[in-house]
Amino acid sequence: MERTPARVAGPHAAPRTAVVWAVLERELQRRGGGPLEIMDVGGGTGGFAVPLAEAGHRVTVVDASPDALAALTRRAAEAGVAERVRAVQGDADALGGLAAPGSVDLVLCHAVLEVVDRPVEVVTALAALLRPGGAASVLVANRAAAVLSRAMSGHLEVAATLLRDPEGRVGLKDTLRRRFDAGSAAALLLGAGLAVEESHGVRVVADLVPAAVADANPDGLLALELAASSISPYRDVATQLHLLARRPSDEERLPGAFPATGVAPPGVAPSTAVPPTAAAVDGTADGAGAAGAAGKPA
Ligand SMILES: C[S@@+](CC[C@H](N)C(=O)[O-])C[C@H]1O[C@@H](n2cnc3c(N)ncnc32)[C@H](O)[C@@H]1O
Repeated sequence: MERTPARVAGPHAAPRTAVVWAVLERELQRRGGGPLEIMDVGGGTGGFAVPLAEAGHRVTVVDASPDALAALTRRAAEAGVAERVRAVQGDADALGGLAAPGSVDLVLCHAVLEVVDRPVEVVTALAALLRPGGAASVLVANRAAAVLSRAMSGHLEVAATLLRDPEGRVGLKDTLRRRFDAGSAAALLLGAGLAVEESHGVRVVADLVPAAVADANPDGLLALELAASSISPYRDVATQLHLLARRPSDEERLPGAFPATGVAPPGVAPSTAVPPTAAAVDGTADGAGAAGAAGKPA
């Protein structure tokens, strides 16, 4: 079983994001550390974009919210990386005109596929932006965590609705359009021609432990979060699911070299590849996860 090394440090050490940073750091190291072209779709206020720019990369943040982009711009200026951060007000459903096809090394799409109108089109567009060999970092809400969270906080009917609903949604008032499971998220990426290489649970325990415990032993919480993130069944009930998927190189796309069957391409540990068992795309991250009973906000 592949484990995420517990080497995250500094600003990347927050238990709620450390697993994603660990995956991203490995990806950046794999690329040799040179400046990369990165696009953060729905990147918001720059929680990922600014640290990536501080590491020397050029980051374009596409977001629908002018307020979020204003905050991003301020944050980038304060960090001294304004020249490496481009803020673009735009729609994830219309990425095509924002960068040349095949020009981006790494695309981030975190907590966005749950809220867009057409997730298939978004994933197809971001896959087209990637260079061959480029990677997509995708973070989505996990339906299972939402079900458990609602049940643990006493909302059994809501939990049952979440469980049954084809989109993993609780009616029209739900802030999310859909929720996912590991299979449905992987199927979405595979459908866009991306090879899923890694799948982790994010916030397996970070949303569950009482705040006093988290405050008293942040290192212990971080270590546990990292250790549990790649192990089933723990990752399967995490608040969010993180997938790293790659656009195959031209060689890998030769007929027969990369069947779209969910079989891991050469060099990918089978234990980390996600089988495309899911059927429908179902769920998003409310952020509540299975945490509701702990009374901790998402
Ligand atoms: C939950 S936040 C996630 C922010 C950031 N990716 C993160 O993980 O911290 C969702 C972001 O997606 C943006 N967003 C929502 N729908 C969008 C769309 N159709 N196109 C572009 N951005 C969108 C929102 O403005 C918001 O900044």
